[in-house]
Amino acid sequence: MDSFKGKVAFVTGAASGIGLGICKAALAEGMKVMMADIEAPVLDAAASDLSTSGDVGTVVCDVSDPIAVRRSAEATIERFGKVHLLCNNAGVSSGGLIDGAEPGDWDWVIGVNYLGVIYGCQAFVPHIKRHGDGGHIVNTSSMAGLLGGMAGWGPYNSSKFAVVGLTEVLRQEGKESGFGASVLCPGGVATNIFDSPRNRPERFGAQVSDVAHDLDLSEIEKGLDPDVVGRLVIEGVRENKLYIFTDPRFKKTLVRRHERMMADLDWSARSEALTSVGAPGAVQGG
Ligand SMILES: NC(=O)c1ccc[n+]([C@@H]2O[C@H](COP(=O)([O-])OP(=O)(O)OC[C@H]3O[C@@H](n4cnc5c(N)ncnc54)[C@H](O)[C@@H]3O)[C@@H](O)[C@H]2O)c1
Repeated sequence: MDSFKGKVAFVTGAASGIGLGICKAALAEGMKVMMADIEAPVLDAAASDLSTSGDVGTVVCDVSDPIAVRRSAEATIERFGKVHLLCNNAGVSSGGLIDGAEPGDWDWVIGVNYLGVIYGCQAFVPHIKRHGDGGHIVNTSSMAGLLGGMAGWGPYNSSKFAVVGLTEVLRQEGKESGFGASVLCPGGVATNIFDSPRNRPERFGAQVSDVAHDLDLSEIEKGLDPDVVGRLVIEGVRENKLYIFTDPRFKKTLVRRHERMMADLDWSARSEALTSVGAPGAVQGG
């Protein structure tokens, strides 16, 4: 997508942080924006602030509820006619050990961070394919979607890996259908993410696991301005980037992860099980 003026963006988690930053950046490009969020009063206040910058609509939507997402899509198409840029950005964080997090914690984090992205795609991608103007989908993951091993953060860490995998598939599917797809992988951004339980729907039960388990929150508090992330997202969409990163300092850590994979691939080529049957790629006598 290389032209934005007059086109329409639908952004989830739009009342705060990165979602709000994306809305501001989209408006600055002359887009019309539908802001979707679960937190109605904060959403209304944010939209009222932005209304001087362009055409802004709001819809209260819990992205973990597929019917609510579908209704939000219908309301957006009714209000603006078409949607071109879909930002599945809403997300929540919750700590907890793999064997310790309550079932409700898993359901909530996977429901918002992963299923919410799927529901957004299901509600909007057929529409984008149909209108034929092309479009772009940005799914918000995290550096936690590429770097594993965040002990005590299993639900969040694994939900974000799932978003990366889904977006890589979506991008391939979009090549045949005329839309692009990017995965936003932020490092620390100064937002309200660690106050996520404020928006935990009752059906997931009360928060039990320790939200701040073992994580240095100062990285988030000192993090990047979410408005800068919003501008970066528009730049990434314009240049059709697959990964939109906000913190280039993670390069060394990502390289180390891939070096570890290569080392273990080489080990498998020399393993007794694979060499004993002459499996493809196995190195005899290696
Ligand atoms: N802040 C960071 O450092 C950071 C780093 C990596 C990834 N992220 C990701 O960025 C995204 C945005 O988070 P943020 O940091 O701006 O936090 P934030 O809390 O400031 O904003 C998140 C927004 O999502 C909304 N939301 C929560 N549950 C929802 C639901 N069920 N349905 C609809 N809206 C819901 C909240 O009301 C809020 O407005 C998330 O996916 C998060 O995981 C953030």
